[in-house]
Amino acid sequence: MTASLSDIVLHWYDAHARALPWRNPPGDPRPSDDAWPYRVWLSEVMLQQTTVAAVKPYFAKFVATWPTVFDLAKASEDDVMAAWAGLGYYSRARNLVKCAAEVAARGGFPETEDELRELPGLGAYTAASIAAIAFGQRAVVVDANVERVVSRLFAIEKPLPGARKAIRAAAETITPDVRAGDFAQGMMDLGSQICTSKAPRCLLCPLSDLCIARKGGEPERLPIKPPKKAKPERTGTAYWIERDGQVWLTTRPGTGMLGGMRALPDDGWSAQDDGSSEPPIEGKIEELGAVRHTFTHAHLTLRIVRLTPTEYPVGKGDWWGVDRIEDAGLPTLFAKAARLALAQE
Ligand code: ADE
Repeated sequence: MTASLSDIVLHWYDAHARALPWRNPPGDPRPSDDAWPYRVWLSEVMLQQTTVAAVKPYFAKFVATWPTVFDLAKASEDDVMAAWAGLGYYSRARNLVKCAAEVAARGGFPETEDELRELPGLGAYTAASIAAIAFGQRAVVVDANVERVVSRLFAIEKPLPGARKAIRAAAETITPDVRAGDFAQGMMDLGSQICTSKAPRCLLCPLSDLCIARKGGEPERLPIKPPKKAKPERTGTAYWIERDGQVWLTTRPGTGMLGGMRALPDDGWSAQDDGSSEPPIEGKIEELGAVRHTFTHAHLTLRIVRLTPTEYPVGKGDWWGVDRIEDAGLPTLFAKAARLALAQE
């Protein structure tokens, strides 16, 4: 069964591959230009925890601004963080700059999974996907889509995340020695287009005859997910401080939540139970409302307050023209806050 299964996936991929801006058409020889591994790397980093639809405009902006890894290596971290704003999981953007510098120093991307793994911010998944897709190496690439297809094909009943070992072992048995990159992307496309979470389209699936979960009649049951933990509710306050058509923006420190991103000054989201918190400087306060945002680990209700200080300035930051706030590179939470404040002007 194993050899023919990969052939079936490759055959299906040849006919049905999604045309995506970071992809080479199936079966083509790999382009020899240096920008190719760069495009694969950039797309794979962007696609972690993020949908194809959300990634497309960011990918286009990045490759237009920084066409090669050498260009990105020379970029300022602030510019890259601002270009990433809205895509979320900002540690990816910080690592992107570090990784680009390391790759540029080496003269280009290494080609093996082990060497790729040594680059800053490259986990097992990304190293395997670049080795397979950019360099045609045999590597076992398992993302959430592949996880779903494999758990159904082999009817792996163990719940996630414990099932990952068995899923990986099963994926290993079906990964071909040639065209491993096309095979990986074929499995991803099957997962996203056919073997979908809730209502898999088994009638269109080229693997349906081989799928043990389908024989069982309830493929949508798999993979079994752990019960969702309730996300804690957090509250905080952010301050809109405006003067002469400019608003005061800070850059968030280091590696914490939204670290390195431009932001409105806030209270560190350490509001008291009654919602009160200390403004960063003294001044007149006017309530503008609140915005809601959901992070991976928590829901946040951020109260937005117009603060008219008795004295300027207010520490380290920039006065930013309100009329070009769209260009400030605010992450989604603070972009929502800015919209709320501006809607009231
Ligand atoms: N998700 C992660 N990598 C992908 C790829 N190369 N193609 C489609 N979806 C993906």
